[in-house]
Amino acid sequence: MELVGTTGNEGYLQRLKAVECPDATFPAIEPSLVMHRASGSVVFDVRGTAYIDLCAGFGALALGHNPPAHRQVLVSRLYEAESELAPLITHGMGDVYPSSAKVNLISYLIDLLPPGLTMAALALTGSQAVEIAVKTAMLATGRSRFVVFGGSYHGLDLGILPLTERADFKAPFRGFLREDKVVPLSFRCSEAELEHALSSGDIAGVIVEPVQGRTGCRPAGLTWLEMLRRQCDKHSSMLIYDEVFTGLGRTGQLTFAEHVPCDLLCLGKAFGGGFPISACIGTTAAMTAWPASKGEAIHTGTFFGHPLSCDIALATLKEMRESDLIDRARNLGLEALSWLKTALGEDPLVQDIRGEGLMLAIEFKKDGNGARLMDILRAQGVIALASGSRGESLSITPALNIPRPLLISGLEAVKASVNLLR
Ligand SMILES: Cc1ncc(COP(=O)(O)O)c(C=O)c1O
Repeated sequence: MELVGTTGNEGYLQRLKAVECPDATFPAIEPSLVMHRASGSVVFDVRGTAYIDLCAGFGALALGHNPPAHRQVLVSRLYEAESELAPLITHGMGDVYPSSAKVNLISYLIDLLPPGLTMAALALTGSQAVEIAVKTAMLATGRSRFVVFGGSYHGLDLGILPLTERADFKAPFRGFLREDKVVPLSFRCSEAELEHALSSGDIAGVIVEPVQGRTGCRPAGLTWLEMLRRQCDKHSSMLIYDEVFTGLGRTGQLTFAEHVPCDLLCLGKAFGGGFPISACIGTTAAMTAWPASKGEAIHTGTFFGHPLSCDIALATLKEMRESDLIDRARNLGLEALSWLKTALGEDPLVQDIRGEGLMLAIEFKKDGNGARLMDILRAQGVIALASGSRGESLSITPALNIPRPLLISGLEAVKASVNLLR
């Protein structure tokens, strides 16, 4: 297998440590891993060691690594570059002149989504999609406070950081944060608690992850989402689904808005299938609260609507639809959940096994056991991510098209590795 330089994983990490902000990369203990090549649901490190990928880029790689659908886009761009025509545009002029790629993507996305969601604004990251949702809700309601729920993770950009629950992410920046703009309630709070918060009359929106991701795949449940919808309607607040993690097939549905409508929907991760692109999509009433641009948008970014990412996102959505990946994620997810429950449900170390579709987590009774398991699995050639604020869970979020035998091999490794925790 290929050896890049003579440094191996450890050498790369040492070089990185010398030149990168210390917060930016986790210096994984032995065996260290520097990702280098990948295909489908298999990743190779710089030494050529193979890993089964049960994380899929934090859930972003809906089609796996380097899928044919993306390669087709990239190759056809190269082909165009060699034809007599000028190559397709790589960078457009975001809020000034649109690219044809952006028009094609937004039209396709709106067609795909439930009928109430009619207009979109593109960005690059999940946090940026949430920023747009927050600004939209403020414009549409004339209010500026938000209800958030315990365990929430909505990103780390400064404007929306107060919406994320984790105190350790916020503590150093408290001086800059508008935490007074956030009303925290417990996840799956009672209707009376929400009603009390909304009765203040100054709540622009209620933001919720239909399945909480970073806190360890905790489903909200449709009945609770219905209650949120009812209360938002009653108090004229916007219901915002942060589906950066759950959206576009991960949980076995396109979006939870198919079951319980929302006013604003945030998509990220799977939208670009691994390329940086995100979106906030809203109802006409919400999105037309923005003023029409008179030449300079009041919210934009140099790379918003990046044409190459738009082409890749369009190919990702088409492939999901044509290969029925959403149904596949639901069925394979049910099978994986029941496999894990049979294998580990009675294990004295395990607190809970839960999730929806291919967004699953094993919660351990002891804090840190999810993180320990992540390290053990790396040594067994499996990539999975610790989750929960105390490293108590292990999340399993593979590509929606992961071959079934590979998924089962990964789960078998998880089961065997739990024994090494004892
Ligand atoms: C539900 C949710 N919202 C927002 C974000 C932030 O997305 P990004 O890291 O792309 O900014 C994440 C990231 O994990 C997420 O899971």
